[in-house]
Amino acid sequence: MTVSARGEPLLLELLDGFLQTKVLITAYQLDLFTMVARAPRSPAELRAALGWPERSTTILVDACVALGLLELEGEALRVPDELAPFLVRTPDRPFRTTTYLLDYYAEVYRALDDMAELVRSDGASSSFGLRDYFKDDVAQVEAEVAREYSRYMDQTIAPIAKVVLETYDFGQHRSLLDLCGGTGTFCAAIVEATPGLRGAFLDVPACVELGRQQLAQRPAVAGRITPIAGDAFTTPLPEGLDVVTICRAAMDWGDERIEPLYRRVRQALPPGGRLVVVERMLPDRPCPEARSLYLRSVYFLAKSRSTRYRTPAGHVALLQRAGFSSVEVREPPRAPYAVFQSMKVVVARA
Ligand SMILES: C[S@@+](CC[C@H](N)C(=O)[O-])C[C@H]1O[C@@H](n2cnc3c(N)ncnc32)[C@H](O)[C@@H]1O
Repeated sequence: MTVSARGEPLLLELLDGFLQTKVLITAYQLDLFTMVARAPRSPAELRAALGWPERSTTILVDACVALGLLELEGEALRVPDELAPFLVRTPDRPFRTTTYLLDYYAEVYRALDDMAELVRSDGASSSFGLRDYFKDDVAQVEAEVAREYSRYMDQTIAPIAKVVLETYDFGQHRSLLDLCGGTGTFCAAIVEATPGLRGAFLDVPACVELGRQQLAQRPAVAGRITPIAGDAFTTPLPEGLDVVTICRAAMDWGDERIEPLYRRVRQALPPGGRLVVVERMLPDRPCPEARSLYLRSVYFLAKSRSTRYRTPAGHVALLQRAGFSSVEVREPPRAPYAVFQSMKVVVARA
């Protein structure tokens, strides 16, 4: 939905937003797009093939056409060419972030149903369990939760690592630690692209176990990477580090947890060592241009009690309070992928 209207039309447009999302997700869940792609059929033929009630099926199919999710070519329905790769299920289709989100958001939106209570309780009332890895004891994170979450993370990290490599030169370093590094995919990408660099990644045991299995398939870099199962807040950091990265993770905790973490990192680094924070960041003031980032933040109400995006100034203040001597916010040359806008790279010098 593009919100271009003002006044009452704006309200009516926003009220329609829910229905648009529901039509997309429901048609995808019911696999209408695959049915249509398999054989050109008129709406009546499609209804007959589906065997569902005439009224409700017509309402859904017509809404799909009205939203541009289906097209009518003469009498026959078709899936627009540019949407088919995302919406039509085929056995060998590659992972696509947007397609993954169709299923994922169905869960997110269920959890946001009573958003008023989420706001009143700062997320405590959330029933959302898909990414439930915020545990006091990191060993309690379930293997299945870690697997499902890491699958998405791993599928989206390659373009992020590429853009980070274009924004920051790791060639000046010898020993990297990627904190909250998931299965080590980011660490491996940086190490692979940087001759002479050794790497380690630290994450909860369930993620690191997956990482060990994945690394075994990558003998070219495996020997230069150390997986560390533990808790970023308490596990002793390895000796000899000169650069630490934290990618897409600082947002998961409030300042009261991140500031001591950053202080610990600074103490582990030699003078001149760097902490590199990679994350989507908010503009200094809320503005319509960053709409998708603010809407994404709403999802954090369901996801946890502490996740939030910060502004670059917020990151700088945290790093300075943690004792870093200079902090620089770098603007990457481009967004890594379509829905990952506003990524920044903050480089703090110990
Ligand atoms: C949003 S993911 C980012 C993963 C990776 N950095 C990336 O960008 O693909 C956050 C990561 O933090 C990890 N995590 C959560 N709590 C943690 C803790 N206490 N110590 C270490 N890692 C933790 C999660 O398991 C998850 O892999």
